[in-house]
Amino acid sequence: MKPGSITFRLSILFALTTVLLLAGIGAYLYRFLDTELMQRDHAELVGKVALFRHHLAAVNSLSQIVSAPNEFRDAIIGHPHLRLALLDEAGNVLLSSADWRHGTEILKAPVAEDAAPGAIAIRMPTPGDPYHTVAAWGALGGGAGERALIVLSLDSREALELLANYRRTLFAVMLFGGLAAAVLGFLTARTSLWPLRLMAETASDISASRLDRRLEVANAPHELKALAASFNAMLERLRNSFARLSDFSSDLAHELRTPINNLMGQTQVALSRARSAEEYRAVLESNLEEYERLARMIGDMLFLAKADNAQAPLNAEEIDLRAELDKVAEFYQVLADEAGLKIVCEGEGRVVADHILAQRAIANLLSNAIRHTSPGGEIFAALAATADAVELRVSNPGPGISPEHLERVFDRFYQVNGSRERSDAGTGLGLAIVKSIMRLHGGDARVASEPGRLTTFTLQFPGSLSDLKNRSEVGQAGKTHSGGSQKG
Ligand SMILES: Nc1ncnc2c1ncn2[C@@H]1O[C@H](COP(=O)(O)OP(=O)(O)OP(=O)(O)O)[C@@H](O)[C@H]1O
Ligand SMILES: [Mg+2]
Repeated sequence: MKPGSITFRLSILFALTTVLLLAGIGAYLYRFLDTELMQRDHAELVGKVALFRHHLAAVNSLSQIVSAPNEFRDAIIGHPHLRLALLDEAGNVLLSSADWRHGTEILKAPVAEDAAPGAIAIRMPTPGDPYHTVAAWGALGGGAGERALIVLSLDSREALELLANYRRTLFAVMLFGGLAAAVLGFLTARTSLWPLRLMAETASDISASRLDRRLEVANAPHELKALAASFNAMLERLRNSFARLSDFSSDLAHELRTPINNLMGQTQVALSRARSAEEYRAVLESNLEEYERLARMIGDMLFLAKADNAQAPLNAEEIDLRAELDKVAEFYQVLADEAGLKIVCEGEGRVVADHILAQRAIANLLSNAIRHTSPGGEIFAALAATADAVELRVSNPGPGISPEHLERVFDRFYQVNGSRERSDAGTGLGLAIVKSIMRLHGGDARVASEPGRLTTFTLQFPGSLSDLKNRSEVGQAGKTHSGGSQKG
């Protein structure tokens, strides 16, 4: 049991609480007992004072007391703990019980000479002098105005002993109660925390190759259910990321192999015999194309990697999305003209976004649309503001994307019907980049397609712009924009 552990703390807490509780109750009961005992004694003493006053009233002179002491002594017969003395005003003992310790108690229990006739002086017992003593004046009868001091002393050793015993027992009970509570607390904490230990064991068993293991949620104690569930959710996300990562690396290897094989093939053929300067030039030009493709791919991947870690800088500001759309559309109109296509833009919308990234997303969509529109078709880019978002829809007529591919077109390197074999083939990273850009902006990208008819990509910029502002401040950390041309 380590000092910082919950088990340790709970045990200590249990013990402390028990000791405090026992001490509180014990102290209360002690006080109660103490008062009760003292009051009982006191009541007895006061009763006796009244009795002696009564007796004194029947006596006419002090000398009568001295001559007939038994009348007074008899009053305390049967009270072995009680001692008696009667004194005159000068302090001379007129009468005392057999075990009277002359002087001491009287001196310690003086009663004022001029005390009111009914007054009684009290001295409580202490461990040093365990006598409960009272002193009071008793007036004699006979009208001479004489009086005698009644001093009654009750041996309280039994009561004091009882109280001392009580204190000792209380301390013992507190000590053992505390110890028992600590042990109990230890056992309780240990059993209660057992599920946590099991969880830790399961968790320590999880490794990259065993990401499918899960913590037990159903049988976990209520307090740990949420923890187990979030831990499992985290594992699920980890597993997904891990799967994506390993898919990504195999895709990556695959993607790199094609251009590098091309480069190698062409170079080997060129080197196989002597060539003219023109031939070498042609090979180098062809190689350059492959190098460009590779460079573009690497740039794209770098961007995606940064965006994944939310490292891509986001210089978000309020922009006129229509103006950005027009700029990109104008740029692509040249390409569209070549293919006999038309790009039509409409609508308005202001968003908080990084205008370079927004342009890049739009460019990717337009370049895809141009590539997949049937000749003579019209590409339609429309801006619309909904209640909580600004949406840009890019639709084009064409072969479209069949439902089984729709889900995956945003995946990295994913291309429908192996378009990578084609000469104008991209790398399949365009839409992945679009998605990343939109996610960076707190928005999203969607696609809907009716094969053979219309395919629509929708970029959704969030309407609530405050969180985007926050994101952009985070984004300012790394400043440069990642390389990578506008492409689709
Ligand atoms: N407007 C569209 N109509 C039909 N299919 C489309 C459309 N846009 C994209 N696709 C399909 O989605 C796939 C993925 O597109 P994406 O932009 O990610 O890659 P790419 O265009 O092939 O390559 P890159 O964009 O990296 O040059 C494409 O291969 C294409 O088959
Ligand atoms: Mg593309």
